[in-house]
Amino acid sequence: MKKLLITGGAGFIGSHVVRLFVQKYSQYHIYNLDALTYAGNLENIADVADEENYTFVKGDITDAPFINALFKEHNFDGVIHLAAESHVDRSITNPLEFINTNIIGTVNLLNAAKEAWKNELNDKRFYHISTDEVYGSLGSEGLFTEETSYDPKSPYSASKASSDHLVRAYGNTYGMQVIISNCSNNYGPNQFPEKLLPLAINNIKNNNPIPIYGKGDNIRDWLYVLDHARAIDVIFHNGATGQTYNIGGINEWTNIDLIRTLCKIMDRKLERTIGTSEQLITFVNDRAGHDKRYAIDSSKLSRELGWEPSLQFEEGMEKTVDWYLENETWLNNIVSGDYAKYYEERYGR
Ligand code: NAD
Ligand code: DAU
Repeated sequence: MKKLLITGGAGFIGSHVVRLFVQKYSQYHIYNLDALTYAGNLENIADVADEENYTFVKGDITDAPFINALFKEHNFDGVIHLAAESHVDRSITNPLEFINTNIIGTVNLLNAAKEAWKNELNDKRFYHISTDEVYGSLGSEGLFTEETSYDPKSPYSASKASSDHLVRAYGNTYGMQVIISNCSNNYGPNQFPEKLLPLAINNIKNNNPIPIYGKGDNIRDWLYVLDHARAIDVIFHNGATGQTYNIGGINEWTNIDLIRTLCKIMDRKLERTIGTSEQLITFVNDRAGHDKRYAIDSSKLSRELGWEPSLQFEEGMEKTVDWYLENETWLNNIVSGDYAKYYEERYGR
């Protein structure tokens, strides 16, 4: 049985990746390594907790001795690395945490893998999950391709860009079999409610203002989280070593149009008069250094590995809203804890 290490599997995207791999590949034993920071939640992955081919390991990727020992103990056959600090706004108030986790943590994993795999480097794959934000910000035209120069503009994206460079450097210098993908904005079940869509769903449900930064004209390219997990599966198994693959939804929305669409869905689901939720939209101070537009060209992934997004956006939004409305306890457990303090500091009451 092959041993696969997935980091960050108690978070939003990681939990979907872990579930997909545990359920699809009985020939793999999946080790889910997660520090359970504020963003990590074992409830996200509770349904596979008792599967025979699954083990949860609580641990911090910034703890090098722990990571080295873990690799010695298990001699993993591959790594899919998602653990990260992931929220841009938090990176603006606390950049160092992002440097530690996203850069030092990634280097710790690379070092441990390099050492543990030194006699069989060619058989082991290190797959690093990254973001389209490393490419910076687009004007009204064009798309990010795999050839677009890196130009990160927030502490978060700079830390992710740095980790991407280090992964490539370990491939080039030490001959590690590395692979990277850069994905656009994900949405779907289990996303922590600091991010735009779940934050807005929660606020609409509770009749609270929906904070929109600036004029709401920034553009993001939205992909349903399970389609990202499917892409990760395809790239891990069939992607070419040393390559980068962009993953995106071909689905650009301005924030304001996205939230207006969400408001209509919420009005229908909550049986409110159409137009009620839109009245909650409140324009607030812009994010510092707010990237204007992200949009991904994922044609390489589609051409070379046959991946396409499977879900229409309307269907993905319906599923997402249904999940949050049906999982009130999950949401309430989060918003009643430390999150309440974070929210008050960031947005006021
Ligand atoms: P998330 O914040 O929901 O989850 C991150 C997980 O990592 C959490 O479970 C957390 O406990 C864990 N973690 C954080 N620091 C850790 C540490 N020091 N040691 C071990 N575990 C730690 O993030 P997400 O949105 O699921 O993103 C996952 C990955 O995908 C990240 O690398 C992110 O950069 C990338 N990504 C995210 C998106 C998106 O739209 N959310 C898009 C593209 C790429
Ligand atoms: O593009 C991929 C990236 O997408 C990932 O790498 C990040 O981990 C992920 O957090 C996400 O980054 P964004 O900054 O795009 O996501 P966020 O949900 O924070 O914001 C989406 C847009 O909505 C962005 O233009 C900022 C805006 N926004 C966000 C919040 C939280 C608001 O207008 N109001 C808000 O309250």
